[in-house]
Amino acid sequence: METKKNDKGYTSETERGIWFTFSRRSFLTLAGWGLFFATLGAYLSQIFGYKGFFYPKVLYEPSPRFSVGEPKAFLENSVTTLKSRKIFVVRDGNSFKALSVVCQHLGCAVEFSKEKNIFECPCHGSKYYRNGVNFAGPAPRPLDHFEMILEDTGKLVVDTSKKVPLETELIV
Ligand code: FES
Repeated sequence: METKKNDKGYTSETERGIWFTFSRRSFLTLAGWGLFFATLGAYLSQIFGYKGFFYPKVLYEPSPRFSVGEPKAFLENSVTTLKSRKIFVVRDGNSFKALSVVCQHLGCAVEFSKEKNIFECPCHGSKYYRNGVNFAGPAPRPLDHFEMILEDTGKLVVDTSKKVPLETELIV
């Protein structure tokens, strides 16, 4: 291509200006690369756009081992429901137990009846004594009992990943 000077003193590669210097081949090549990078960008934004891409797909569950406070936080001869932890803390004098709220029939949450001094399941009527032993309804076994210890800090700690026999109690 030859460069010419027009009457205004500007130079261009042809008389008709720079916009007409692209051949059809150049235009299609440029359009092809543009399409390629646009597609690549869209693809990468799909992958990296999600925050979850950078983090492992893990369910964060609360620890099965947790503190429930000092013994004096529980009244003598009381049953305290810790709904968020799905346990009952049963205190009889200086004896403590941690019982599961999960009914052994089909897994409903049992409730403590103060008047009757028993646990009752609202789903199918299973009943449990205050120590967690089943005595009525379809529940096949007692409520789960969890390990409870008194830490050096003076706080009671329950571990719901460790089941203990029925008769286990923590004397404080
Ligand atoms: S789930 Fe409790 S009695 Fe059925």
